[in-house]
Amino acid sequence: LRRVETEDPYSRVVSETLSGMDPWMTLGFSSADLFNYLGRMDGALSRYFIFISEAPAGVVCVRYPWLRGPYLELLALFNSHQGQGIGSQIIGWMEAEARLKSGNLWVLVSSFNPRGRNFYLKLGFSEIATLPALVKPGYDEILLRKCLQCSAS
Ligand SMILES: CC(C)(COP(=O)(O)OP(=O)(O)OC[C@H]1O[C@@H](n2cnc3c(N)ncnc32)[C@H](O)[C@@H]1OP(=O)(O)O)[C@@H](O)C(=O)NCCC(=O)NCCS
Repeated sequence: LRRVETEDPYSRVVSETLSGMDPWMTLGFSSADLFNYLGRMDGALSRYFIFISEAPAGVVCVRYPWLRGPYLELLALFNSHQGQGIGSQIIGWMEAEARLKSGNLWVLVSSFNPRGRNFYLKLGFSEIATLPALVKPGYDEILLRKCLQCSAS
């Protein structure tokens, strides 16, 4: 993981890749929106590029403090790096950090992203609410929580 810098030289190419990938494509995020998101001042948002063999392979953005634990605001592995266990490793890292100070992990996933939903369910998250039209009219977002202090975890 490498922290995104102000005016990071990789932000442009990463934003372009994300804007062509779901869920961001369907939700209507442009490359410019994502570029601004990666670069704007936000002291509570930690943004990292995932580097593999010296090339960007994905992005992870974590908001903390959020709700008695961090909120995973964005997680993306670019197509050729999916399904190799990297996403699971990232959640493991986030969980280890969260355990030191709080009892929950939070994430939102679009209802039309069954693969994303399965990914989080498999890692011990529970779907706890459906939020209609949160990002875009006509689309639901699902709020998931991983409770680190509940007996089942
Ligand atoms: C969802 C995502 C973050 C998962 O990360 P990943 O590194 O690809 O996932 P992992 O390799 O750690 O796989 C963990 C589980 O996810 C599911 N999964 C991962 N890749 C999959 C694929 N190609 N097809 C179906 N299920 C898949 C499987 O259940 C897998 O478990 P298994 O390896 O025991 O079969 C990643 O695929 C991604 O960035 N997708 C596009 C953007 C997105 O949907 N982001 C998350 C929601 S915002």
